[in-house]
Amino acid sequence: MTTPAFVNEPLLELRRAPVRAALPAALAALDARLPLRVPILIDAQRGADTGLISTDPGAPDRVVARAGCASAADAAAAVAAATAAVPAWAARSADERAAILVRAAALLRERRLELAALAVRECAKPWPEADADVCEAIDFLEYYAREAVTLAAGAPLIQMPGELNTLRYAPRGVCAVIAPWNFPLAIPLGMTAAALATGNTVVLKPAEQAPGCAGELVRALHEAGVPGGALGLLPGEGEAGAALVRDPGVHTIAFTGSGAVGMDIIAAAAQPVPGQHHLKRVVAEMGGKNCVIVDSDADLDDAVPAIVRSAFVYAGQKCSAASRVLVHETIADGLLERIAGAVDVLVVGQAETLGTEVPPVIEREAQDRLARYAAIAEREGRIVARRDGVPGTGWFSPPTVVTGLPGGSAVLAEEIFGPLLAVEPVRDVDHACEIVDGLPYALTGGLFARNPRTVAAVTARSPVGNLYVNRAITGAMVARQPFGGNRLSGTGTKAGGPGYLLQFVEPHVVTENTMRHGIVV
Ligand SMILES: NC(=O)c1ccc[n+]([C@@H]2O[C@H](COP(=O)([O-])OP(=O)(O)OC[C@H]3O[C@@H](n4cnc5c(N)ncnc54)[C@H](O)[C@@H]3O)[C@@H](O)[C@H]2O)c1
Repeated sequence: MTTPAFVNEPLLELRRAPVRAALPAALAALDARLPLRVPILIDAQRGADTGLISTDPGAPDRVVARAGCASAADAAAAVAAATAAVPAWAARSADERAAILVRAAALLRERRLELAALAVRECAKPWPEADADVCEAIDFLEYYAREAVTLAAGAPLIQMPGELNTLRYAPRGVCAVIAPWNFPLAIPLGMTAAALATGNTVVLKPAEQAPGCAGELVRALHEAGVPGGALGLLPGEGEAGAALVRDPGVHTIAFTGSGAVGMDIIAAAAQPVPGQHHLKRVVAEMGGKNCVIVDSDADLDDAVPAIVRSAFVYAGQKCSAASRVLVHETIADGLLERIAGAVDVLVVGQAETLGTEVPPVIEREAQDRLARYAAIAEREGRIVARRDGVPGTGWFSPPTVVTGLPGGSAVLAEEIFGPLLAVEPVRDVDHACEIVDGLPYALTGGLFARNPRTVAAVTARSPVGNLYVNRAITGAMVARQPFGGNRLSGTGTKAGGPGYLLQFVEPHVVTENTMRHGIVV
């Protein structure tokens, strides 16, 4: 393939007035198309497109998409179609498949404003976050396309006279992709692209909150040349995902979502069912409880905006978001005061308003869950900041900072997934590292420290998958910060990094005795 080297898709230059001016027009064009219809798609056949609706979290009366709601029978039919499509898709060369994915990337690039507008509406992503989601989706297509071509060359082995050893990577078969809503473009597309690039066929079960985004992704992939049978779409609830996971025709499950669902999938996938002649592989990216350590020598001019950004942008609904700050006790009061000041001026508002930092959360259940954690925080600790006066329409949850929580508080232990940040004084960095090491999660983490020895020491003992030093802890980019967690945060895989595709293939080694005796007649 004569493809140029991978580079990250440039973000929109939103500081330029003409770029900003294009956004309302994109939103108006999308609004004119709403509600989108998202049918179940099996072998390119359109199935039901009713049963599930997604709404705008900022204006819950606005229906963004009407979608089918896949049943267990739909899941079985989709797996059967994807199984039938495996031989032809797997037989294409890696170059051919890569060319299709690169074409899909070009389609997304053409439609980037329209897609970002859809993420604004369907998941209340503020414009810069929505744009970054589109760019990451494009990056996954471009990156995995190239990586799959490299992988198709196999790996070099030791050769002896009279013996030929070869190693090639073969597709595993049908991949069930089960995705969350918080990166409604990048995450479903990333997992789908990885599976397709390596010659697997895919049944995509997107999050029930974001079927519209998934429908647009699948449309682009089909237009680019992915055969209908090689990519099915099952909009629906968790039951459709659960049925897929248990289907004997599924070989790989690529899941991103909560720990509870991920653990259920891992357990279910470990049980072979009658008719299944293979072990299922689960690629699971799950939740976290991400801590930022702040040492006494940290530059608070850097630390405060980075912490506030990490905790509150997109209402704390990134899996990488900061939820605990462990600060050296000698500077804790000063840091708290400054974080509280920064929270007071956070821009809370509708996602479509450029400049909004904290949009509504995804749905009423999330708003209720966050209110429950805020009540625990208030009861067990001391609230040092709460950005009240949030808009009345939409599922808003006020950005809140709490301190003084007891060690056993649920607010310190559980993934909250919203704009609630706990700040805790610690004796020193060692104490902070002990707390981090005691957590079952290990997704992202942060450190603010100026002493290089402290940086080296924390780096050496940190269990997290992605550690960020002296910067915000969100915003991983494909091929720059391969992303994924350890411990209960995931199976330790790194999306957007070298090695990720190995989970979608199985190695085949062939050893041939090349010595020939006598004459072949
Ligand atoms: N580690 C990462 O890279 C990463 C990235 C994004 C989000 N997340 C995590 O995702 C969570 C938020 O997303 P969510 O609310 O969509 O998660 P979720 O676990 O509720 O849902 C994820 C997907 O699983 C499906 N599902 C639900 N029950 C199922 C079952 N029993 N069997 C199979 N599938 C089932 C859902 O329908 C959805 O498509 C957070 O915990 C966040 O940390 C992790």
